[in-house]
Amino acid sequence: RSIKSLTTSPSSHILRRGYASEAVPERKVTVLGAAGGIGQPLSLLMKLNPLVSNLALYDIANTPGVAADVSHINTRSEVVGYASDAELGKALEGADVVIIPAGVPRKPGMTRDDLFNINAGIVKGLCEAIAKHCPNALVNMISNPVNSTVPIAAEVFKKAGTYDPKRLFGVTTLDVVRAKTFYAGKAMVPVAEVNVPVVGGHAGITILPLFSQATPKANLSDEVITALTKRTQDGGTEVVEAKAGKGSATLSMAYAGAIFADACLKGLNGVPDVIECSFVQSTVTELPFFASRVRLGKNGVEEVLGLGPLSDFEKEGLEKLKPELKSSIEKGIKFAIQ
Ligand code: NAI
Repeated sequence: RSIKSLTTSPSSHILRRGYASEAVPERKVTVLGAAGGIGQPLSLLMKLNPLVSNLALYDIANTPGVAADVSHINTRSEVVGYASDAELGKALEGADVVIIPAGVPRKPGMTRDDLFNINAGIVKGLCEAIAKHCPNALVNMISNPVNSTVPIAAEVFKKAGTYDPKRLFGVTTLDVVRAKTFYAGKAMVPVAEVNVPVVGGHAGITILPLFSQATPKANLSDEVITALTKRTQDGGTEVVEAKAGKGSATLSMAYAGAIFADACLKGLNGVPDVIECSFVQSTVTELPFFASRVRLGKNGVEEVLGLGPLSDFEKEGLEKLKPELKSSIEKGIKFAIQ
């Protein structure tokens, strides 16, 4: 299909927004950890995204099969698989967006912080390669613990002299996806219309959904709001337990990762008013990184939006999460600068 026919396709929601007569720019997306539980469905979803022209799939295991499989899908992007450390540079070269779901997931009984020892080293190595081969790419960090891996990435980029806080994102979209789903179920409103900001971080009580700002409005009791908050915070654990040792959320995470990457691409392409929650460098609180609503644009973060009015319950949740989030951020920084 030609680019022209893509831009005018009446079936594409994405392309109807903002591109009436312009060609869709070339955009390369690289997935690091593409053959994993998240990586595979995420690669599939990125292959379906018409904003992507080049899709680079990198993993240290099983890449050729995944890349061959995905490459047969008759959509715009050209797919290339990269299978070893020696090929990482080529996978990253020219990337506009790099998505990182590389690393080990949780098993029952584990917290995200229990993954630190393995994933911190993986993320550090991958970010060193990003600094070298595509320092201007927008980095979407999925690997846990996000509260620490994002500060690690920032330190690696600082050391390399390539750090731009506008281009580094912790992917917290799954928390938003869960909050929307759970809220719609209780509020009895159409889930597709629901919006709920989720702020703070991405682990346990650091995940703070702001149901007082949820739309469409519903008159939910304090008990229901408390239960919805807890379910959103424990959503990942709910999946880990249901999978009983076979990993953590992969399909819903791939969906969330694809939504966030799409928002980054739209921002790069100049689509106005693209807003998603993300864990970014921030002055919204006294903590150096914090998740809140972020306006995305041609350079990545255009604006980090504030928290808006909070209920007393949310104010309390905000104060409670700060010490844990602070220590996770410090742990990441300490690891990276040692
Ligand atoms: P998985 O174990 O199924 O897949 C991980 C993949 O990473 C494997 O294919 C592995 O070969 C690859 N990998 C390991 N080291 C690598 C390296 N140095 N370079 C490239 N690839 C490498 O795990 P899954 O379920 O896909 O989870 C991945 C990560 O995402 C975990 O850290 C998990 O905790 C996190 N996660 C984050 C969520 C979020 O909301 N941000 C939600 C769910 C999971």
